[in-house]
Amino acid sequence: MVIVAYIVPKLADYSAAALDAAVSQLLAALKEEVDHAWSSGTAWKAFRDRWIGRKGGLLTQVNDLWLKAAPKDAKREVGRRVNEIRMEVEHAVGKTEGLYLESETATQAPGSIESVDITLPGIRRAIGAEHPVMRTSREMVAVFQKLGYSVADGPVIETDYYNFEALNFPPNHPARDTQDTLFIAGQQAKPLRERLLLRTHTSPVQIRTMENMRPPIRIVIPGTVHRNDPPDASHSPMFHQIEGLAVDTNITFGDLKGTLDHAMKEFFGSSVKTSFRPSFFPFTEPSAEMFVSCFICGGSGRRGSGPCRPCKQTGWIEILGCGMVDPNVFEFVKDNGYDPKKVSGFAFGMGADRIALLKYGVEDLQLFFQGDVRFLQQFS
Ligand code: DAH
Repeated sequence: MVIVAYIVPKLADYSAAALDAAVSQLLAALKEEVDHAWSSGTAWKAFRDRWIGRKGGLLTQVNDLWLKAAPKDAKREVGRRVNEIRMEVEHAVGKTEGLYLESETATQAPGSIESVDITLPGIRRAIGAEHPVMRTSREMVAVFQKLGYSVADGPVIETDYYNFEALNFPPNHPARDTQDTLFIAGQQAKPLRERLLLRTHTSPVQIRTMENMRPPIRIVIPGTVHRNDPPDASHSPMFHQIEGLAVDTNITFGDLKGTLDHAMKEFFGSSVKTSFRPSFFPFTEPSAEMFVSCFICGGSGRRGSGPCRPCKQTGWIEILGCGMVDPNVFEFVKDNGYDPKKVSGFAFGMGADRIALLKYGVEDLQLFFQGDVRFLQQFS
């Protein structure tokens, strides 16, 4: 196709219709020339000089022939249109340069130097936001840090020993079943205690920390855990827990209750109440589940005229498992100062994802893990 080179006309008529026609003629010419402009370095430079060259470039001509020559009462309107044209032209030049450089780098020998217009605006990246589960976890950890707890962590790939045996799970406990636990393949030749698995809770870090630090200790342990659960609105094969452990001489169940009650008031607000109900965990004795009064309905079980769904109309929400460290657990770390006759302690563990779900009123746990920016942007 032969391109008839566009020439900036002089304007005799400054009416809106005449300006419209002149502008659209110019933009049509620009559009046609863009397609050829990035075919080579010379074509691109010629295109650039023709449109934005300082001396005699088409933009300069538009400025001289249209804007400077315009009668006073038309200046404003012409100025607006000339600005629009300038943006279009500069955008087209920048775009064609980008395309040209891309086609060049695809064929150029490595090490060759090319020119880049460093005056072009950079690419702005979105800053992003903290993930709601990480935020929940961080805020809960901060509550305990204010009480003097340190943060500990441990491996996500664990041995049977730390995940189960040293936590007083009997050899045939159902949690060891492949129905519940994700094991690393090909471990059958190893003795049970050395077999690798994805930790099913953060409790093994209790043992690891007690092996390394003598009492007294106060630690919180945020971390990722895995279970062999198919994903649905309230389950995920990967989720997050926050564990706690306090060991000293003379730690009592009263300390456990006082500490957790204070922590829940800090986290959910001073009006929540806590309630402890008997439960069972192999590594604590006695064990309990702790509930907080529903922070959504205020404990009434009702929302307006309807039922409160998050607390299933009970007015209470289960938040964590806890208890006094079982003496059998201390036996495994006795040599590091944890003689069960001399020390006592309490422990607790909670699900960060579940708490985030309740706190932010999210209906489906899967939304946390799908990485859909439209969901995540709501937390920025
Ligand atoms: N590890 C338990 C779980 O994943 C939670 C738990 C309960 C942790 C009681 C504790 C505890 O430290 O004392 O279900």
